Amino acid sequence: MKQPDYGIDAPRFDLTMFLLGAVTLASGLAVTLSSGLPGSELVTAVGLDLTGIGLLFVGVVYVYSSKVGKLRLREKVVGMIPWKGDEKVLDIGCGRGLLLIGAARHLVTGSAVGVDIWKWGDLTGNAPGAALENAKLEGVADRVTLKEGDASSLAFPDSTFDVVLSSLAIHNLKGEEARDRAIREAVRVLKPGGTLAIYDWGARRYSKVLTREGMTNVRLHEPIPLFLFFGRIVTARKPSSLSNV
Ligand SMILES: C[S@@+](CC[C@H](N)C(=O)[O-])C[C@H]1O[C@@H](n2cnc3c(N)ncnc32)[C@H](O)[C@@H]1O
Repeated sequence: MKQPDYGIDAPRFDLTMFLLGAVTLASGLAVTLSSGLPGSELVTAVGLDLTGIGLLFVGVVYVYSSKVGKLRLREKVVGMIPWKGDEKVLDIGCGRGLLLIGAARHLVTGSAVGVDIWKWGDLTGNAPGAALENAKLEGVADRVTLKEGDASSLAFPDSTFDVVLSSLAIHNLKGEEARDRAIREAVRVLKPGGTLAIYDWGARRYSKVLTREGMTNVRLHEPIPLFLFFGRIVTARKPSSLSNV
């Protein structure tokens, strides 16, 4: 049976690691074979071999993080929400639907919206059709909607969603001001009493923005071991009395 496919993050970076790693390792082996390995040539050969192996290792771990680590990340992020089943959920930068679909699996009468600009360079096969196909394969297509839109200016009224999620998307916005704006947008569209969970490289900074925006229970979680995206999860709650300005 066909399995859902959530793609590989930053494919150009992965490809660069594999190509550079292969070329460096091959150069090291060539130096080894073409010399009798006296003194400095031995150091060069070993240096090239180790660098090549290191680069290939980064490429392999990156692919592993995309294909295996992110599924564990999804369980962790989605598991932080106290689901009732009737929530309205937003996944910002949903890509091929990783968190969107993970959340939709907890919904009974609720619904989940995925917003993205579907940039090709950020994820292999990145397209709304791929997210929809994954939603069908995971049996949640009836609870999922996709909408093209930019994280820094969400086309939803204030206080629309009970839950706002995002993974590895907001760091793609250029400049801290744009990323801070995206966090403020996430707060704006969240209903009072709603919960937010974001996994990203900038989680520490986002936690400060969330606190400044009046969110409560702002918590920066521990990094995930052996996951090469070096991000953290930040969770927060919008107090019932916090109104949008
Ligand atoms: C690395 S992918 C992660 C996708 C998905 N969240 C996941 O974890 O599998 C980053 C996603 O952010 C999206 N993205 C980049 N800039 C964006 C922006 N300004 N607004 C909305 N989405 C954006 C990309 O199109 C891509 O789908």
